[in-house]
Amino acid sequence: MSKVISFATQKGGSGKSTLALVLAAPLAIEYGLKIAILDCDYQQSIVKTRQQLDEPSLAILRESDPAADYPYDVFPMSLKSIFDFIDNPENDYDLIIIDIPGRADGEDVFNALTGCDAVIVPLVSDYLDRASTAEFMGILEALKKAADKAEVDFQYFGLATKRISGRREEKEMDDYIDELGLSRFQSYLSHRMVYSRASTLHSLLTPAYRNYAGGTKDSSEEIRRVCDELIEKLDLPRRKADVGVELEETTDTTPTEIK
Ligand SMILES: Nc1ncnc2c1ncn2[C@@H]1O[C@H](COP(=O)(O)OP(=O)(O)OP(=O)(O)O)[C@@H](O)[C@H]1O
Ligand SMILES: [Mg+2]
Repeated sequence: MSKVISFATQKGGSGKSTLALVLAAPLAIEYGLKIAILDCDYQQSIVKTRQQLDEPSLAILRESDPAADYPYDVFPMSLKSIFDFIDNPENDYDLIIIDIPGRADGEDVFNALTGCDAVIVPLVSDYLDRASTAEFMGILEALKKAADKAEVDFQYFGLATKRISGRREEKEMDDYIDELGLSRFQSYLSHRMVYSRASTLHSLLTPAYRNYAGGTKDSSEEIRRVCDELIEKLDLPRRKADVGVELEETTDTTPTEIK
């Protein structure tokens, strides 16, 4: 059975689609997991990233390597159709990531969340966001109680993103979530330009693409920590033994189109 997660909150622009994009390619390429993203947002950010940015790059790659392909699948989908997809045994993925629309209210969104093994709430540490984030996590807590009663696995977590180190609000947000007794990832993503350059074809953990996108060892370290924590929390398989060693030993993996 595939594990299903979604990044969701009722705050628009908090980094849901970016988190899906930043994590999916490394989990597929460096960690060897079989991944699908179901893009259920009417904005179709992930589908458009693939069609507009990555399709031309893949076409160039295929000129020298006809077998080159995307590392994971992306499907445009309505929220109503996700259960048909998840329940179909042919869709045998390690991890299915659902990208939920910006406004996380309404029955369809609520139903979609019930189909997830875990919901991850991006935490952006602005004072005004705190109460609504806590409110949304309260809804997830109610879902968890219902799931526990029905003996269905369901977890939810906060995950700090767009974090600016040393900012007072970051620690206040962590304390606020902890005081409410809500679970959160210890790992996080900082506010970095490189994360807005995530691709559906290349991984930001692959040094050549990371450098091209303006990343550093620090950004790789952050991504790796979030991937490791996600794998641990969801009990996902580890299909590649030592991501760290492989990363540092990788030599020339520069995709042809960026050489
Ligand atoms: N960690 C980050 N560092 C820097 N910029 C980021 C980060 N995460 C997201 N962004 C930027 O913030 C903006 C909103 O991100 P994104 O589209 O992922 O949010 P969203 O929650 O999916 O939005 P929506 O609610 O509209 O679906 C984008 O311009 C994105 O590039
Ligand atoms: Mg989005």
